[in-house]
Amino acid sequence: MANGIDRWPYPRLVAHRCGGTLAPENTLAGFDACMRYGYRMVEFDAKLSADNEVFLLHDDTLDRTTNGHGAAAEHSWQQLATLDAGAWRGQQFDGTRLPTLAEAAQRCKRDNIAANIEIKPCPGRDVITGTLVAQRASTLWQGQTPPLLSSFSFDALTAARDAAPSLQRGMLFEEVPTDWLRIVRELECVSLHASHRYLSEPLVAQIHAEGLCVLAYTVNDPARARLLAQWGVDMICTDRLDILPHDMLSALADPA
Ligand code: G3P
Ligand code: MG
Repeated sequence: MANGIDRWPYPRLVAHRCGGTLAPENTLAGFDACMRYGYRMVEFDAKLSADNEVFLLHDDTLDRTTNGHGAAAEHSWQQLATLDAGAWRGQQFDGTRLPTLAEAAQRCKRDNIAANIEIKPCPGRDVITGTLVAQRASTLWQGQTPPLLSSFSFDALTAARDAAPSLQRGMLFEEVPTDWLRIVRELECVSLHASHRYLSEPLVAQIHAEGLCVLAYTVNDPARARLLAQWGVDMICTDRLDILPHDMLSALADPA
């Protein structure tokens, strides 16, 4: 098994859902916030439309973050592309659209920003979502820092591993289960991602000892971020691009 720590080209801080609280989540407006605060990496959630377009959205349903209604998986991309995904966040974001994975890849390239693509399947679509996100990401990110794929879904990440084995993977947990090592080995992960609430210094050390990097989400308190960094947490995912300690921002390493 490859040692994830040797293959980690990513900066310490990553912007949750593209721009955290500074932009409508999972939209390209988040990239503007990253540029403003010097962030070099975004995390976003990717899922499939009814006709298998990969696009960015967190929830299974459209209601919270767009002017659409009902299950995202029941809408074609043509329908989804007409929705407003910004107005809920404030008038200045009126007209912001749901981005496709391809549009996110273009912005990553233009702004030299790395990506953690969280595969977030709609119910019952784990395998196809893992497969299509991994296949398209491996094409779309050619020539850029390779994206890090992650998921709470074991089946989606298994499908991603089979579809694009060379893309790096991180398994997402809320609380790290006792059998975490078996799971990350089976998926050939380079990293383990967990809610910061359930991480401790000894657990971070155990994960590192197995050759894996650690991502902690979602950390919005500067003192907590500093403590996690002292423990050696490799990546901190935050909504508060504006207040996390900016001396923890670092440039991207050269792609391997
Ligand atoms: O990948 C870290 C974080 O995004 C996981 O939680 O619900 O914000 O996608 P969620
Ligand atoms: Mg996410």
